Amino acid sequence: SEYETILTETRGRVALITLNRPKALNALNSQLMHEVVAAARAFDRDRGIGAIVITGSDRAFAAGADIKEMQSKSYMDVYLDDFFAEWDALAAVRTPTIAAVAGYALGGGCELAMICDFILAADTAQFGQPEIALGVIPGIGGSQRLTRAVGKAKAMEMCLTGRKMDANEAERAGLVSRVLPAADLLDEAMTVAASIAEKSLPVAMMAKEAVNRAFETTLTEGVRFERRVFHSTFATADQTEGMTAFTEKRTPVFENR
Ligand code: HXC
Repeated sequence: SEYETILTETRGRVALITLNRPKALNALNSQLMHEVVAAARAFDRDRGIGAIVITGSDRAFAAGADIKEMQSKSYMDVYLDDFFAEWDALAAVRTPTIAAVAGYALGGGCELAMICDFILAADTAQFGQPEIALGVIPGIGGSQRLTRAVGKAKAMEMCLTGRKMDANEAERAGLVSRVLPAADLLDEAMTVAASIAEKSLPVAMMAKEAVNRAFETTLTEGVRFERRVFHSTFATADQTEGMTAFTEKRTPVFENR
């Protein structure tokens, strides 16, 4: 494989990216960041892929950015490299992305999961932003995405104390869409991804764009944006197929156009 810190495979129209630095609990070093972003972008360009799942191991989704790599960096190192800005390219992926999280999702691991469109959690999952204990703060969007996901009270407490949330608390708080038995996590994530991938890819992209707009704009502007995008779905062959299939009582076959 062209990658050393991740594994990639495809199953039908679903792509799977598995973080694979087991000795470091999948700590996100620069190489892993480059590889995840490169793999996700390549799958995003592949019209044969309709959903991307990102997962780790049973023990750790990812225990954070690589502390050993960051330890000796100076302000000028991180400023001039715009350290971690590369992750923005993952947020810009248009194909739906799912994080399947078991074990630790700490610091950058929690942030990586939150960059994905939604999180499916094993009952073993633990989420946290422990950066403050290292003398830093979240740097891959954690203070922003966690606050939008769970509200100010929990986000503040987690960023200020480093306290971890277990899977059930994360579900109650709205950070994860569902909690699954650890043994079922990956199969269920792949099934959910397959159900997305059999829909119309351009329409799924539009749905994703519309939901994401809710985080970036006012309600009035967001509803206006949604309506325009909704109108534009009527320019797709897949809208015709979806509605025709319904009236003919058959399963639609989307052509992704
Ligand atoms: C580098 C890491 C690591 C990390 C674990 N390891 N997390 N290496 N960076 N973030 C390494 C350990 O050094 C160890 O390697 C091996 O993985 C196994 O970890 P252990 O600590 O022995 O395992 P355990 O006792 O089970 O404890 C698990 C843990 C603990 C609770 C997850 O590893 C931990 O607290 N890790 C750091 C969590 C953290 O602070 N994350 C936030 C990082 S900062 P060796 O070779 O020593 O045996 C971050 C910032 C983002 O993400 C942006 C702002 C800068």
